[in-house]
Amino acid sequence: MVDQDASGDANGNADYQWAKFDSEAYFQQYYGEPHPDDDLVTRLAAKVLKNAGPPGAALDVVDVGTGPNLIPFFCALPRARRLTAWENADPNIAWLRQEFERDDMRPQWRHFWDVTREAYGAEWSLPDNPIPALREKAVVTKGSIFDMPARTWDAATMFFCAESITKRQDEFEAACMAFARCVRVGGTLAAAFLARSDGYVVADQSFPALKLSPEAIEDVFKAHARDVRAELIGIVDREIRSGYTGCIFLTGTAR
Ligand SMILES: C[S@@+](CC[C@H](N)C(=O)[O-])C[C@H]1O[C@@H](n2cnc3c(N)ncnc32)[C@H](O)[C@@H]1O
Repeated sequence: MVDQDASGDANGNADYQWAKFDSEAYFQQYYGEPHPDDDLVTRLAAKVLKNAGPPGAALDVVDVGTGPNLIPFFCALPRARRLTAWENADPNIAWLRQEFERDDMRPQWRHFWDVTREAYGAEWSLPDNPIPALREKAVVTKGSIFDMPARTWDAATMFFCAESITKRQDEFEAACMAFARCVRVGGTLAAAFLARSDGYVVADQSFPALKLSPEAIEDVFKAHARDVRAELIGIVDREIRSGYTGCIFLTGTAR
């Protein structure tokens, strides 16, 4: 797919074939062989959730655009009383529901759960297998990021969604606003964004991405959050997976 229509306007979220998203191909392509960047994002997100306020409280946490990725759930699980996957693509919703029903744990999930446990520290006594607790706490909800209810959750995560679902800057900004406002005032935000990406291909289907800098992301979030920090992390200088040459990690507190 070209990234603009006949009049030259950039394509928006609705212009892409989300119903043809090949969830298992995506999982294998991006998480089949864990990369040190994934470990770093996992550690950073786990530490943010570990320290999310109020201290000691069991939190209602949402992950937006979850796709075929359980890492954000692992990061939030030790603090969560409920975990919501807010996802709009039917194949990803079906994939997630099936994944929670599996009795065996994929080696990749074992790896990322171990990284999460290490980030929380031994004093947390986390279980060897997180899947039963995930199954109990997780809710998979079909919904668009643009329609998220405001002030609903205590903390929110978003891995590669707002910048990876559109070529339109106005939609990116609307998606970030919806994400930032879906938590109560004072709620914790943690998000990862593709750096320097033009888009990505999954099983021959093209999907969009916006090219963003940490400064551009901070500027968008400053209107909706305090203590905003976006940093380029785990920088790789070549495309290690379709559309991925590095990552920007953002934290903030909703206001
Ligand atoms: C690049 S994938 C990221 C998947 C996963 N979070 C990860 O970390 O690998 C983008 C995700 O956004 C989802 N998505 C696309 N449009 C959306 C929308 N309007 N609202 C919510 N999610 C959407 C896709 O189905 C897909 O799961």
